[in-house]
This record gives sequence, structure tokens and C-alpha cells, in this order.
Amino acid sequence: MIATTIIASLVSLVSQTYADEPMKPQRAEELERLIRHDCGSCHGMTLKGGLGPDIRAQTLEGRSADSIAEIILEGVPGTPMPPWRPLLSQQDAIWIANYLLRGEKP
Ligand code: HEC
Repeated sequence: MIATTIIASLVSLVSQTYADEPMKPQRAEELERLIRHDCGSCHGMTLKGGLGPDIRAQTLEGRSADSIAEIILEGVPGTPMPPWRPLLSQQDAIWIANYLLRGEKP
């Protein structure tokens, strides 16, 4: 249906526009827990690297939040980095990317 397609693209446009809006505190807490437990299981508790590479702010410096969010959502095919799209919205992924870029500790 064309109408559905138009609505879907409007929704994604709106969610992109508001992607960096403040996160609801409860969702932010859930995402921090995910970063610590799930991302940390491969990237190390301090995100300094393990099975997955170092994803601390100093290492990611200069990369855009969008490109990092893309990696989080799509994963890196052919490597253990899984796609998180089933669990995370685009807003969640942008929030995590900015969280990593700010150098916050999960
Ligand atoms: C099962 C292990 C695993 C888990 C879990 C995992 N990653 Fe990864 N991640 C990897 C590996 C391995 C790579 C390197 C892929 C490659 O060779 O390019 C990677 C790459 C990345 C990169 C790109 C680094 C760069 O310099 O290009 C980012 C960003 C990233 N992961 C973030 C995350 C986040 C955020 C989470 C949690 C939502 C997560 N990862 C969970 C294994 C994992």
C-alpha cells in the first residue's frame, strides 16, 4: 500500500529528526544496563576491547553518531558483532552512540 509506505517513511523521518531528543530515564537505564552487560561481554567491561575492539570515546573520536548507530543496528557481517535492530530502535542506537562518544561509563 502506498499510504502505508508514505506513513512509514514519515514515521522514520520524524524519528530521525527527534533521534537525539532526551531519552526517557527508564529506557536510558535499560540501555546503560545493555551496554554494560551485552556490549561489555564482547567489548570488555570498560569497553577497552576484548573479543570486540576498543569502543571508548578516545578511540571513536571523529566518527559520527549516525555511522556508529548504523554499526550497532546492522552489526558487522562476517564478524561476531551482531545486529541489534531486533532489540533497539534507531533512537536507542543514536543514544548509545552519543553515550559512547561522550565517554560515559556504563
Ligand atoms: C558477540 C560479541 C559482540 C557483542 C555482544 C557486541 N559487539 Fe560490537 N563488535 C564486535 C566485534 C567482533 C566487532 C569488530 C567487527 C569488525 O571486525 O569490524 C565489533 C564492532 C563494534 C563497533 C565498531 C567499532 C569500530 O571501530 O568500527 C561498535 C561501535 C560496536 N561494536 C558497538 C557495540 C555495541 C554498542 C554493542 C552492544 C549493543 C556491541 N557492540 C555488542 C563484537 C560484539
